Amino acid sequence: MGGLTSTSLAMDLAGLKLRSPTLNASGVLGMSAPLLKRVYDSGVGAVVTKSLGPTLRTGHTNPTVVEVEGGLLNAMGLPNPGVEGYMGELRELKREGVPVVASFFASTIEEFQVGAQVLCGEGADALELNLSCPNVGEELGMCAADAISVERITSAVKRVAKAPVIVKLSPNVTDIVSIAVAAERGGADAITAVNTLKAIAIDVDFRRPVLANVIGGLSGPAIKSVALRCVWEIAETVKVPIIGCGGVSNWRDAVEYMLAGASAVEIGTAVMYHGFEVYNAVNEGVAKYLKENRFGSVKEVVGLAHRK
Ligand SMILES: Cc1cc2nc3c(=O)[nH]c(=O)nc-3n(C[C@H](O)[C@H](O)[C@H](O)COP(=O)(O)O)c2cc1C
Repeated sequence: MGGLTSTSLAMDLAGLKLRSPTLNASGVLGMSAPLLKRVYDSGVGAVVTKSLGPTLRTGHTNPTVVEVEGGLLNAMGLPNPGVEGYMGELRELKREGVPVVASFFASTIEEFQVGAQVLCGEGADALELNLSCPNVGEELGMCAADAISVERITSAVKRVAKAPVIVKLSPNVTDIVSIAVAAERGGADAITAVNTLKAIAIDVDFRRPVLANVIGGLSGPAIKSVALRCVWEIAETVKVPIIGCGGVSNWRDAVEYMLAGASAVEIGTAVMYHGFEVYNAVNEGVAKYLKENRFGSVKEVVGLAHRK
């Protein structure tokens, strides 16, 4: 991690040991072991896999991603090799000593439990439940908006998981705090806020939506203020640690999230604009901010902007 003052950045986030407060956001990059090893070598505290489902999914047809003002709009449809199909890559990452947060989704409680058991069995250091993807239709993604389902899924996974369980929330709900409270009641060890915002782009020449799936998820700087507000509101009510996600591009964004109540941040779309160097750049900027303002650790900054 270069010349970082890594001691001030290292933390234990609900049992997940992180050498730095940055992680890659699920799915934005590929998910092969060599690629995620490169991400780790770029300074992240742990790598997050693309979301894995119970079986192989090919995802939506093209076009699946388009650049829009302030970010990206995507409707990938969660293409992935399935939990079992990914085990070789997970084993390779663990052989290389890379801490792995395994992101996964399912359509039934039982599938969630099986996924959790298999991923923990192969050494995942934490699980991130993707309850929030807006692109997968009725049977999979809709649970993110329903507090009862979120609590049921979280507690079912907690009963079988041997690693910390992080619940990733959608901003596409009326009251994200009630969903975060449901995750906490279900036993979530941490919360990631947030996934992409539902959005659309239209091609004026073809007079049709750009994405084959019509509606997609917006990411990047365009969503930062919304995601930051979600973290702020959740932090006002919920006790478990929060991982901020949405539009983080530089250390100032990361510190804003920490002041709003996040213990760490996930960075996705910014990698498309700034390359893998973004992780170390954010880490170094945060370390410098801590030093210049005489803070001994990230923990001392978390939630400070809430002081009355
Ligand atoms: C191309 C693409 C694919 C994504 N795939 C996933 C995924 O598989 N699972 C998931 O939980 N989030 C997925 N996301 C959402 C990101 O993890 C993240 O929540 C979102 O992009 C906001 O962060 P950002 O603004 O830093 O990109 C994806 C985002 C993009 C742009």
